[in-house]
Amino acid sequence: MYGADGIHHIGIAVRDLDEAAERYALLIGARVRARDAAEGLGTAAAELETPSGPLLELVAPLGEETPVGKFLAKRGEGMHHVAYGVQDIDAEVRRLLAAGVEMIDEEPRSGLFGHRVAFIHPDAAGGVLVELVHTGGASHG
Ligand code: CO
Repeated sequence: MYGADGIHHIGIAVRDLDEAAERYALLIGARVRARDAAEGLGTAAAELETPSGPLLELVAPLGEETPVGKFLAKRGEGMHHVAYGVQDIDAEVRRLLAAGVEMIDEEPRSGLFGHRVAFIHPDAAGGVLVELVHTGGASHG
């Protein structure tokens, strides 16, 4: 079997993590369960949870010339990406590359919150930036 388990998280681009976390607490009762920042990605993030359902990942830029900074300048705050959990990210990335799918990451890399991730180019996914998150056990290489 191949494919995704389901939605792992929804990524939302925001200018201010604290303000956005407070807003989502008010709107849907979501609570911050972790924060992270990745200098290499130029991104700070807060992971919010609700009692059931996917996580929310609020992403804010560490500078204007970062990917999220450019996204905000061009499109403003809003939906940034949808992340799907997969059992074996190495196998999924190989399968997608073999199928000719345009990937941003041709190899899985370490993403926010310690996840192994790979991004699929929006042009290959109906204009949506798609993130795959490894949720399975040890990789089978
Ligand atoms: Co994400």
